[in-house]
Amino acid sequence: MNVKDYIRTIPDFPSPGVLFRDVTTLFGDPRGFRMAVDQLLHPWAGVRIDKVVGLEARGFILGGAVAHQLVAGFVPMRKKGKLPGRTVEQAYKLEYGTAVLEAHDDAIRPGEKVLLVDDLLATGGTALAGLSLIERLGGKALGCAFVIDLPDLGGRGLLEAAGHRVHALCA
Ligand code: PRP
Ligand code: ADE
Repeated sequence: MNVKDYIRTIPDFPSPGVLFRDVTTLFGDPRGFRMAVDQLLHPWAGVRIDKVVGLEARGFILGGAVAHQLVAGFVPMRKKGKLPGRTVEQAYKLEYGTAVLEAHDDAIRPGEKVLLVDDLLATGGTALAGLSLIERLGGKALGCAFVIDLPDLGGRGLLEAAGHRVHALCA
C-alpha cells in the first residue's frame, strides 16, 4: 500500500463540485500514518530545522508528528480568533471561500529555520499565507511538505514562483 491508497475521496463536500480528499482514513491507519510522516521527513534528512509550522486543522496532526521526529518546536497557524496572545495575520483565498490565518507574533524567532506542513496543497493560498507569516516573523522558510498535491489547482506553481521548495507525497 502507498500513502495514496489510504486516502478516500468524498464528492460534493463541503459544497457541490468539490472532490474532498479525506485524510482521516490515512491518519487512522497505523501503517499509513507512520508512512506519511516518514515520507514527509525524507527530503529534510540532515537539515537543521528549528520549528515546524502546522496549518489548521489537519496540518496540526501531521506537523506535530513531524516536529516530534525532528526534535523541533511546533507552531500552530490558526484561523482568525483562536490564538490567545498577540498575533500577526494574513488573509487568503480558498478553493471554496476566504479566510484569515494567524500566528502568535513571538512563535518564531528571527533567523529560525522553519518547515511548513499541511495535508493538502490545492490553490496554494493557505500555504502561501503561512509562508508569508513565517517570513514576516523573521523566520527562514526552508520549504513546505504536503501529503497531497492537487496539481490542477496550481498551488505548486504559485509557491515555487514565490521561491519556495515544495514536496508532496501524492497527487
Ligand atoms: C484545507 C487543507 C489546506 C487548504 C488547502 O484546509 O487542509 O490547509 O485547505 O487549500 P488551498 O491550497 O487552496 O489554500 P481547510 O481550509 O479546509 O481547513 P481545515 O483543515 O481547518 O478544515
Ligand atoms: N482543501 C482545499 N481543497 C480540498 C480538497 N479538494 N480536499 C480536501 N481539502 C481541501
